[in-house]
Amino acid sequence: MKILITGAKGMLAQAVKEKFEKKNELILTDVQDLDITNEQAVKDFIARVKPDYIINCAAYTAVDKAEENEELAEKINADGPKNLALAAKENNAILVHISTDYVFPGDLDVEKAYTEEDATGPVTAYGRTKLHGEQAIANNCDKYYIFRTAWLYGEGKNFVRTMLTLSETRDEISVVCDQHGSPTYTEDLTSIIYQAIEKKIPFGIYHSTNQEFTTWSEFTKKIFELSNISTKVNPITSEEYSKQYPTSANRPKNSQLSKNKLLSNGIEIPNWEDALKRYLKKEGRM
Ligand SMILES: NC(=O)c1ccc[n+]([C@@H]2O[C@H](COP(=O)([O-])OP(=O)(O)OC[C@H]3O[C@@H](n4cnc5c(N)ncnc54)[C@H](OP(=O)(O)O)[C@@H]3O)[C@@H](O)[C@H]2O)c1
Repeated sequence: MKILITGAKGMLAQAVKEKFEKKNELILTDVQDLDITNEQAVKDFIARVKPDYIINCAAYTAVDKAEENEELAEKINADGPKNLALAAKENNAILVHISTDYVFPGDLDVEKAYTEEDATGPVTAYGRTKLHGEQAIANNCDKYYIFRTAWLYGEGKNFVRTMLTLSETRDEISVVCDQHGSPTYTEDLTSIIYQAIEKKIPFGIYHSTNQEFTTWSEFTKKIFELSNISTKVNPITSEEYSKQYPTSANRPKNSQLSKNKLLSNGIEIPNWEDALKRYLKKEGRM
């Protein structure tokens, strides 16, 4: 299969390349090769290359900066996917796109997890632009997968590495304890995408994180425990955290996504603790 990967220098794209390169012909593009916001360039590129699949790893992912730069975020997260959807339809390619839990307001009871049928209602600029991207795809092509993920870590700068680095200079660290979700290893999200394509599951939107739920503070405790680090984790509320470190965008309290739709299509999804162990081993921390 011929697979076009956009945003190929990004964190998720690294795992996608690794997983798909064995059996497929990959066309890797970063913003210099193919700016997804340029409608004509996308149209011409895809008509020339004629990929079977387009995996869109390009995005504007700076959640706080998006509050001030919503116009640019909208171009990359909404107009870009629209351009890809139009070109995919024109050339009979299947579009694979990544979205986020931020399309939801995050105020659901923490005993529950969001399903694909739940009403969206983003409360951040980033979330609004990502939702517009989903809508642009659904309105402009038929053969698409949208994988909504959350709390992603993998190659490059990410939460796990930040905590490990902080632990080198701190005896104690305060981490938010009232935001609930599933840390998700890029290798496991990629495996979900891979299985979905292999099994030819029905097109549509799928919630795609690692299994089981936790909080940022519990996740951090587990990172330190597995890496044999003695830094103490002090759980604090989002309110306390934002007094100490003001951020522009309010993080959702509930980022829990139900994976029942993927599971009912026979997709295997490891839990977040198992994923973290594999990541720390790969990083040489365990
Ligand atoms: N990271 C998370 O925790 C998280 C959570 C939920 C969902 N997601 C979603 O998962 C996907 C992958 O995220 P990620 O963390 O891998 O993102 P990332 O590391 O920020 O990578 C995004 C890539 O897109 C490129 N890009 C930006 N504008 C572009 C354009 N106009 N044309 C082509 N490429 C462009 C960026 O290049 P430059 O760096 O040069 O700008 C970057 O290489 C995104 O759709 C994101 O919204 C991520």
